[in-house]
Amino acid sequence: MSQERSSWLIKDEATLTELVTLMNLSADETTVMQELQEAARVAAPEMTKAFYERLFAHEATAEYLRDVSMDRLHGMVQEWFSELFCGQYDADYARRRMTIGQIHVKIGLPVRYPLAMLDVVMPFGESVAATYANPALATQAFRKVLSLDVAIFNQAYEDNQLKHLAELVGGERLARRLLTGT
Ligand code: HEM
Repeated sequence: MSQERSSWLIKDEATLTELVTLMNLSADETTVMQELQEAARVAAPEMTKAFYERLFAHEATAEYLRDVSMDRLHGMVQEWFSELFCGQYDADYARRRMTIGQIHVKIGLPVRYPLAMLDVVMPFGESVAATYANPALATQAFRKVLSLDVAIFNQAYEDNQLKHLAELVGGERLARRLLTGT
């Protein structure tokens, strides 16, 4: 594949603002999320409990949690869940979520694990959405915001891989071409 893609030219900060634009959250959707934040805070401890039960039940993921403060992590994942419902999805929000992705890159965690954890996060978010007067709108809003988070998390991994491959082969375009496998 030799064709250049315009998405290849979108980098760093611009990737974040692009993703926020792509999700196209309406004012109604952001309002719903904000109105649900208190319910999300209430659900967060239970979500976090299920989250770490899942990770501790699997040796390859439990290994990452041995030498860290679980009290701190419980608090941070609760905060992460509540912040999904903050109602303001701008570049600052995207940057905060990107930093979380980068922290996971740095500990050498394969991206399949955070992605697989959506199986735990999704039903808790949907239960929160179901308490809203218009559950269909709330569910739609929650799914958009969670998808945004997944895209940003994944972007942290891709940025890192591309950066290192580009350094190795002497340029990002060549690195991108190599990654297409052609
Ligand atoms: C949906 C998926 C995930 C979310 C939302 C998430 C969220 C977070 C957050 C918010 C932090 C704190 C970051 C900070 O210090 O500011 C964190 C740190 C951490 N997470 Fe995750 N996490 C996810 C998946 C995982 C998985 C699958 C593992 C490992 C099995 C993991 C292991 C860790 C570890 C070890 C830290 C501490 C890193 C350090 O301080 O050195 N996370 N995570």
